[in-house]
Amino acid sequence: MCGIVGYVGKSDCVDLLLDSLRRLEYRGYDSAGMAVFESDTISIVKKRGRLNNLIKSLNEGYRPCGHCGIGHTRWATHGEPSDINSHPHNSGNVTIVHNGIIENYLQIKKYLKNKGYRFETETDSETVAKLLDYNYKDNPIDAIAKTAKQLEGSYALGILFLDRPNEIYAIRKNSPLIVGKGKDGNFIASDVPAIIKHTREYILLDQNEIAIVKDNSIKFIDFYGKNIEKEILTANWNVESAEKNGFPHFMIKEINEQPEAIRRCISPRIKQGNLDLGLSNLSDEKFSSFEKIHIVACGTAMHAGMVGKYVIEKLARIPVDVDIASEFRYKNPIISTKDLVIIISQSGETADSLAALRLAKERSVFTLAIVNVVGSSIAREADSVFYTWAGPEISVASTKAYTVQITSLYMLAIKLGEISKTLSNDEICELCNEIQDIPNKIKYILKNDDNILQCAKTLQNSHDIFFIGRGVDYCISLESSLKLKEISYIHSEAYAAGELKHGTISLIENNTPVIAIATQTDLYAKTISNVKEVKSRGANVLLLCTDKSEVDSNASDLVIRIPNANNEILLPLYSIVPLQMFAYHTAVLKGCDVDKPRNLAKSVTVE
Ligand code: M6R
Repeated sequence: MCGIVGYVGKSDCVDLLLDSLRRLEYRGYDSAGMAVFESDTISIVKKRGRLNNLIKSLNEGYRPCGHCGIGHTRWATHGEPSDINSHPHNSGNVTIVHNGIIENYLQIKKYLKNKGYRFETETDSETVAKLLDYNYKDNPIDAIAKTAKQLEGSYALGILFLDRPNEIYAIRKNSPLIVGKGKDGNFIASDVPAIIKHTREYILLDQNEIAIVKDNSIKFIDFYGKNIEKEILTANWNVESAEKNGFPHFMIKEINEQPEAIRRCISPRIKQGNLDLGLSNLSDEKFSSFEKIHIVACGTAMHAGMVGKYVIEKLARIPVDVDIASEFRYKNPIISTKDLVIIISQSGETADSLAALRLAKERSVFTLAIVNVVGSSIAREADSVFYTWAGPEISVASTKAYTVQITSLYMLAIKLGEISKTLSNDEICELCNEIQDIPNKIKYILKNDDNILQCAKTLQNSHDIFFIGRGVDYCISLESSLKLKEISYIHSEAYAAGELKHGTISLIENNTPVIAIATQTDLYAKTISNVKEVKSRGANVLLLCTDKSEVDSNASDLVIRIPNANNEILLPLYSIVPLQMFAYHTAVLKGCDVDKPRNLAKSVTVE
């Protein structure tokens, strides 16, 4: 959460920082601000609310002019969104932007108050500026190293020292930060999309490393002043991938990118019906040693893990537990060295998922990360990485990252089934062939937009919507419900269809919308019985089923059909797509800010 950026180079930095902040806004949009070196001073402009407020203020009020500056877009943690709590924060010689949470900020505040410092904001970040100022004598590295040792929690910091014009200093701990190497200047940023318009070359800053960024040089040094050699990476996607390309919102662009994203995820791993995951440190022998699997993740990624549980248990007969990362890390989980812990994360930076990974590693349990963002913390720290190759996902509501996570889990389940011999060669070949056809089937589903828009128009004014399903359809109910509520603000719940009678059915009254997902042949009749139970109590039912299902017209008011699959275990990848579109259309019809829903941020780097 929060996005930080910095630029030093030949161009005027104000427009450049604004453009980068626009691309980082998905990380938080409670306020935005920038600090710019101007001759012998550092000018700060910051405003509560969306970036447009900052732009308005720069257009109507003072607009700094300079070639070196840092910028910030905030997701508020400590202190309400306000001008004063916005970043950058300044203290004496030091100006900073911060992403993360300083856990011991109250102790530091007390310590600095005793030294005579006065505090103006409610933020934890202000303490960092003041502590750096207190520690700064004449050597920035000494001050940063000393400060870093005193801070607890997480931080990515962009720092300007007034007496070091046109130099940006950066450091990070448990929050992401990259350094970009451009032709006409250099950058720091929370992630690659912020700078991709200017350069595809970047360097990952590691913990306990300090970057010194000038217009014509980038240096990395440790806390003792020793130089560190770093590898320059090249982003394998371009500026168009990080832009809307004619779509009105990132979310609908990303929904439509799913066929291509899934193809990218599959094609290096399945060739002519043969599966080769190419996972580092994971030999067949190692694979065969796992007795139990724990999937740990948050939000949508956790929902993908729930589908993974069904798939792995069905295809490979290995027991799988799925845990919410924030629960897993504090429950003293029962995990053994014979287990495999799979962490799923789009960003690879989610604080709770990262902590769960570290906990598993501390207990010497093998960790596999299913991650989208290359070089992210989770990807780097896991024993083995399965990159999903979905490309940048900008919309806060996750769509293509989810479907590639499920695709990855299918391939993993097939591998485990091959090794445990629960799948024959023919079965593996058939599954692999069918998986390769998934992108085409999703393209076909995406063409059904008119019907889905009609369903959204019918249900857009609902106050509550219930989703029900059994088996993997229950997992899809959970994800569809999350998608709908997070962007449309319609209250929504998901239930295992058989569970309704145990309480929830009392909420069903005349016209209560119930979306029933019934794609699995063996459970179809059971789910339809539950549909009839709600129908007879007045519910307005939208049924999602396959095109081979017989639909009783008394059991539904609206129907969405998806193509059938030979192996029905693959159907979650089809059923989620129309429900993502349904959530999207509903939110647009209600006039919601689809890509930036209130109170949310894309990457949750605080616990
Ligand atoms: O980056 P991650 O996959 O670790 O993020 C996990 C969740 O924060 C994320 O999936 C969240 O639930 C989505 N924004 C929901 O659409």
